[in-house]
Amino acid sequence: MPRAIISPSVLASDFGQLTAECKRMIKGGAEWLHMDVMDGHFVPNITMGAPILSCVHKGVPGIFMDCHMMVAKPEQWVDDIADAGGSLYCFHIEATSDPVSLINTIHKRNMKAGVAISPDTPSTAITDEIANAADMLLVMTVYPGRGGQKFIERCVPKVAELRARFPEKDIEVDGGVGPNTIGICADAGCNVIVAGTAIFGSENPMEVIQRLKDTVNA
Ligand code: DX5
Ligand code: ZN
Repeated sequence: MPRAIISPSVLASDFGQLTAECKRMIKGGAEWLHMDVMDGHFVPNITMGAPILSCVHKGVPGIFMDCHMMVAKPEQWVDDIADAGGSLYCFHIEATSDPVSLINTIHKRNMKAGVAISPDTPSTAITDEIANAADMLLVMTVYPGRGGQKFIERCVPKVAELRARFPEKDIEVDGGVGPNTIGICADAGCNVIVAGTAIFGSENPMEVIQRLKDTVNA
């Protein structure tokens, strides 16, 4: 299985200090930063878009921006996010009719491509063709739309199903993940860990990052 990658969700950070918050996470051991882009259509909330990501990219040298695109038209934002310095563009399979050509478009802009499934979408929605084209698969463990929600345990078997089919693929979990829920996620085979509240809400984010990493790599 691939090694652990910790991707703190900046949605739980102080947006007024966004670049400083990202630097703090990298210093604390995070490999990636998880940037939740919401458009008010795919989900009811609006968060941030390319202009903010561009500032973060310029302000935090070498940052890997793991862009989680909770948007109704994922095809529309590939160029903007690539120009802003996005490293990985993860779209929802529920929002597109042609995931493979979208993956190809993302790759043409030199970003990694991720495919996300919401809690009600089965793992079989990710066909072999889609998974083989993608760099990462994201299993949501909350309904997309806001941070700080309760972990939905019934989503975890989908991680195990995907890990059995794709032993070498990066598989990410997102939503309600922290020291109390990382165990079952790691057992199921995920290796990319998103955590917002659990990391930013802690007095010692570095310790939480290390704990999540150690559990996955154990
Ligand atoms: C939910 C977002 C998540 C969220 C995670 O729509 O995709 O990335 O910010 O936050 P926590 O870890 O607080 O559930
Ligand atoms: Zn997310």
